[in-house]
Amino acid sequence: MSGVNEIRSAFLDYFAKNGHEVVQSSPLVPRNDPTLMFVNAGMVPFKNVFTGLEKRDYVRATSSQKCVRAGGKHNDLDNVGYTARHHTFFEMLGNFSFGDYFKEQAIEHAWTLVTKEFGLPKDRLLVTVYSEDQEAYDFWKKIAGLSDDRIIRISTSDNFWAMGDTGPCGPCSEIFYDHGDHIWGGPPGSAEEDGDRFIEIWNLVFMQYEQLADERIDLPRPSIDTGMGLERIAAVLQGVHDNYDIDLFRALIGASENLTGIQAEGDRQASHRVIADHLRSTAFLIADGVLPSNEGRGYVLRRIMRRAMRHANLLGARDPMIFKMVPTLVREMGQAYPELVRAESLITETLQLEEKRFIKTLERGLGLLDDATADMGEGSRLDGETAFKLYDTYGFPLDLTQDALRNRNISVDTEGFDQAMERQRAEARAAWSGSGEAATDAVWFTLKEKHGATEFLGYETEKAEGVAVAFVKDGAEVERLTAGESGFIVLNQTPFYGESGGQVGDIGLMIGEGFKATVTDTQKKADGLFVHQVEVTDGGVKAGDALELEVDHSRRTAIRSNHSATHLVHEALREVLGDHVAQKGSLVTAERLRFDFSHPKPLAPEELKQIERLTNEIVLQNAPVETRLMEVDEAIEAGAMALFGEKYGDEVRVVSMGVATEGEKAGKPYSLELCGGTHVKRTGDIGLVTLVTEGAVAAGVRRVEALTGTEARKYLAQQDQIARQAAGLLKTSAADVPARIEALLDERKKLERELAEAKKKLAMGGGSGGDSGVREVGAFKLMARVVEGMNPKDLKGVADEGKTSLGSGVVTIINVAEDGKAAIVVGVTSDLTDKVSAVDLVRLGSEALGGRGGGGRPDMAQAGGPDGSKADAAIEAIEAALKNA
Ligand code: ALA
Repeated sequence: MSGVNEIRSAFLDYFAKNGHEVVQSSPLVPRNDPTLMFVNAGMVPFKNVFTGLEKRDYVRATSSQKCVRAGGKHNDLDNVGYTARHHTFFEMLGNFSFGDYFKEQAIEHAWTLVTKEFGLPKDRLLVTVYSEDQEAYDFWKKIAGLSDDRIIRISTSDNFWAMGDTGPCGPCSEIFYDHGDHIWGGPPGSAEEDGDRFIEIWNLVFMQYEQLADERIDLPRPSIDTGMGLERIAAVLQGVHDNYDIDLFRALIGASENLTGIQAEGDRQASHRVIADHLRSTAFLIADGVLPSNEGRGYVLRRIMRRAMRHANLLGARDPMIFKMVPTLVREMGQAYPELVRAESLITETLQLEEKRFIKTLERGLGLLDDATADMGEGSRLDGETAFKLYDTYGFPLDLTQDALRNRNISVDTEGFDQAMERQRAEARAAWSGSGEAATDAVWFTLKEKHGATEFLGYETEKAEGVAVAFVKDGAEVERLTAGESGFIVLNQTPFYGESGGQVGDIGLMIGEGFKATVTDTQKKADGLFVHQVEVTDGGVKAGDALELEVDHSRRTAIRSNHSATHLVHEALREVLGDHVAQKGSLVTAERLRFDFSHPKPLAPEELKQIERLTNEIVLQNAPVETRLMEVDEAIEAGAMALFGEKYGDEVRVVSMGVATEGEKAGKPYSLELCGGTHVKRTGDIGLVTLVTEGAVAAGVRRVEALTGTEARKYLAQQDQIARQAAGLLKTSAADVPARIEALLDERKKLERELAEAKKKLAMGGGSGGDSGVREVGAFKLMARVVEGMNPKDLKGVADEGKTSLGSGVVTIINVAEDGKAAIVVGVTSDLTDKVSAVDLVRLGSEALGGRGGGGRPDMAQAGGPDGSKADAAIEAIEAALKNA
């Protein structure tokens, strides 16, 4: 008897030995199929290989694929716990041929593995074939030598397998194991077939067709898809009848028995099974990037978690307990699925948080349910209003309420539930239309109501498929968009980030059959609707079309890097400047990051250097960047930075980055922030952070801008180039440039001083306007000079010196600047001011120079004029006045 891990290996080894490529399980969230909620069969990751859309370098493959059946076509959620074989999460072992071998070899492999490798006795086995498939019948006869009564023809859809409403499909043939006549039940096709004696262990699908929306076409080549539930075959090989009795489930149920102190017996058994099963789907979904939410996949996860929690409550648990089972699960399955080990702390924390939150309302909700149903007998129906109240106020998903009433055989009025939900929506709509939002947003609000929020896949992937659900052009909903048109597309899910939290929206491509569009921007509207602004380049698109979505990778990479760097800069600012630093705004683009924060004064160069150093130290740590879901209060208590006044939901994404090495935070995350943006995987991905500008934006608010990665490198290379150029010009090394410039500036100052002195001397001793410049005019001695290019500041000093050297007289200095304008100064020695005023004289001079006015005192006045070429005329005017004085 082997354990689950050995059986999985034995299966894969057998097919590897027989020329099959062993392919790792795909994540549970399908990347290649927008219509599927979760991968629900081993063939899903190969869907496009079957249809010929995708080529791989192998034609045979084998895998052990993680599957979740808790939504969509294959949904087992309601049955889990109450049967021996239903699971929300299970592993499907499979072998695949893509146009290589077909029926005969598929049957041969299956029979060899089951009877030789696994050693199952032939007399315990029987098979079914699709009634029209004589070929399969004949091969079973030939290969297995089964008697006619052990090859059963089935005409129903049980023996025609399809992935979903569309996708690859074909007739199938199933292998059944007979658990023995001590168990009630009959062979497939018999009246007692629903009994548990004959159990299907392996389904061989002869993939031949592709089901499209309106027709069924042939696949390019007949192929093989098989699926064997690992839990079922393990039960057979371990000699037990019930999947929940295999080693793996015994370990999980053992853990929940220990934690609750309740044995898995009698009517308690179902609860233990639910917990064990739901723990697996919860852990694997979280490991694959799904977090509980109120929309889409996250809501399915939340329903699964809450259902498990109610069963923990039934077992008497009043405190969170399921999260304590995670180590057991990781021990059992972590080796085969290393993602469980990697995500262990995230799984544990997310579960604990959800348990803590829900426990608060669970008891009260169950109390309400008990009161509401106290008088109800078997076969009665709970009203929709109460079910809705449980949903709305107590967080009871509808299926949880149904599950809680199942044992008492009470159903729920689901129509009434839907009506109550619709009424609430109508109220929200009415409240919204009175809220004064822009009328142009009405269209988004309506679309959000009709189609729900868009599921964002972009934390995990940049490429995914989505189904187009609505189009908007010029503010109104339209049926389709065609080549040459621009507009907006809304999809059920998307990897494109919608602008929010300072991070710009993604751009990229959308491709469908015969359709192509460029996404030029993505916006988030009406609280969760992702709106893609597109320009259609080829073909057209209508609602229901599946589109391949591809985010511009290099742009998004740069954005991620800038966003993560913003968090590091924020923390470094606080570390260097103090805790008063609070975020006032931020912008994260592909080119740069901008961060506004409260701080009263400019940052000193030393501070900037330190901020840059701290930031780059964390980059070099290359520490993983982790995102978890937390309650707002809890996150803030843990020290997460949040924007004051911002509205957050009850739960928030908290991004932590780096490890603090100093101070009281040592050993804890360096940066912890509430954030819905996209981030690098490890801090090292940022490469490098360079602060490029620092300045003021408003009173008490400063702004820094920084570059990361390639942009930072380009910027620094440019700076380097500038330094080299400067060094070349100065004929020195770059290191000596500052000292050389300082020396040059000093030298220049000295030369300027010397030049000014020289000009002053010139003004005193020479220049035009007369030989010595001093002459007798009327009763006065006049010193008149016209000089050029003197510093206007020096004019009065020169006039004063002139007055001193004259002893008694009048001094006129006209300075003509380079631009041809003139300044004029007139000085009159004090013994003459009662005869002639410097103010009057300067005014006359100024007029001659084309100017007006002037001012000063009777002994010294100054004025100007635009026309320096009239300097001589100005002096003549003054002379004339002196003659008459
Ligand atoms: N795809 C087949 C199944 O899921 C094998 O049963």
